[in-house]
Amino acid sequence: MPRLELLLSPQEIKQVVDSLAREIKDNYGDKNPLLVGVLKGCFVFMADLVRCLDMPLEMEFLSLSSYGQRRTVSCGKVEVMRGLRAPVKGRHVLVVEDIVDTGLTLRFTLNYLERRKPASVKVCALFDKPARRQTEVPIDYRGFIVPDVFVVGYGLDYDEQFRQLPGLYSLQEKS
Ligand code: IMP
Repeated sequence: MPRLELLLSPQEIKQVVDSLAREIKDNYGDKNPLLVGVLKGCFVFMADLVRCLDMPLEMEFLSLSSYGQRRTVSCGKVEVMRGLRAPVKGRHVLVVEDIVDTGLTLRFTLNYLERRKPASVKVCALFDKPARRQTEVPIDYRGFIVPDVFVVGYGLDYDEQFRQLPGLYSLQEKS
């Protein structure tokens, strides 16, 4: 078994999700944004975030993949597993990301969306790991900056395990 160490408790995460939601609500008001969640990692964050957003909004999911099984390092090649169904043209889009690491997935997502001519695109990322960035990406709503360690829980996995943990943990593979 890999070794897990608690980095952020569910309560600490909840406080920050609430405050991100307040900021988003103040900025979008009645613009009815399209929230685009990047699967699979976003599903816990997205579910908690939207339940704090007392305003009109729509949701879509983009399924991308850049990590192979049993890997803790992005292979750098992003593929669309399932594209967006809703039209994006003229919409105010808010990308909801679990974690921005190298930035390659977010860069890919932003290019994918820009080609579809939205009215605006902003990014909300709960976790930001800037130490490993390979490409510059904007983050308009940022939850936490995390250290350069592999993290799991709150939607994030290691080999598809640990997504259900309510807190955020660092993971060390047993050598
Ligand atoms: P990036 O393209 O390197 O920025 O990585 C983006 C995706 O990789 C995220 O949406 C996550 O699904 C996954 N990822 C990056 N870092 C971690 C981590 O520390 N733990 C689990 N998944 C991660």
